[in-house]
Amino acid sequence: MPEPPTADPSQTIGEISTDEFMQIMLTNALSPMRVIEQFAAQVTAGGLIGVMSSGQGSIANNESGQRELYRGSKAALNMFMRSLAARPTMKARPLVTMAPGWIKTALGGPDAPYTIEETIPLLVNVLLEKQQRPGLEISRLSRQYGSLVMITPRATAPQPPTFGNRQHPAPAPPARWQAGRAVLRCPRR
Ligand SMILES: NC(=O)c1ccc[n+]([C@@H]2O[C@H](COP(=O)([O-])OP(=O)(O)OC[C@H]3O[C@@H](n4cnc5c(N)ncnc54)[C@H](OP(=O)(O)O)[C@@H]3O)[C@@H](O)[C@H]2O)c1
Repeated sequence: MPEPPTADPSQTIGEISTDEFMQIMLTNALSPMRVIEQFAAQVTAGGLIGVMSSGQGSIANNESGQRELYRGSKAALNMFMRSLAARPTMKARPLVTMAPGWIKTALGGPDAPYTIEETIPLLVNVLLEKQQRPGLEISRLSRQYGSLVMITPRATAPQPPTFGNRQHPAPAPPARWQAGRAVLRCPRR
């Protein structure tokens, strides 16, 4: 889970207390992976496992900075999911990390452009569509296309993105998506 809404987004990583660092990393990065490892055996062999990440966990897209601890915790979660996906026991399993965009919640605040009600169906569609595709994929909310797009990590076979919202056919994706190296930006705060 994220930083408290009252946290100062300009606080640098060096200014953060060790206790807060441990709490956020424990909650956002370690705990989801512990849950997965404890419960993976309860999921059928080809069953889907997904985690909620954030666009702010993207290393490539971080040009604006801010929220350094939150970003670091989500980047760590993303890396742990890549490591999970690389395990031989996980090769046949669909895995997904989701970045929902900027949502009106206690964390996102009232200025966020998207509501929970319009975002949850998109997330459910991502999970449903991902069920039959083994390997790790990353979904991000695209403001431009108004839907969740699935991005295939470069390590696996390039595929065109899958649009989560079937009710709104999306335009042809930019060429760079077809190369499996999409760079999408989540809404800035
Ligand atoms: N909102 C956004 O703009 C946004 C953007 C990108 C990613 N995300 C991600 O989406 C997920 C949900 O965030 P949100 O915006 O929905 O935040 P939220 O409204 O504050 O909801 C957080 C949820 O997590 C629970 N929770 C909080 N701290 C916890 C803890 N230490 N242990 C167990 N559960 C805890 C809360 O439970 P209680 O209700 O019982 O307090 C609540 O159900 C997070 O992983 C967040 O990083 C959100």
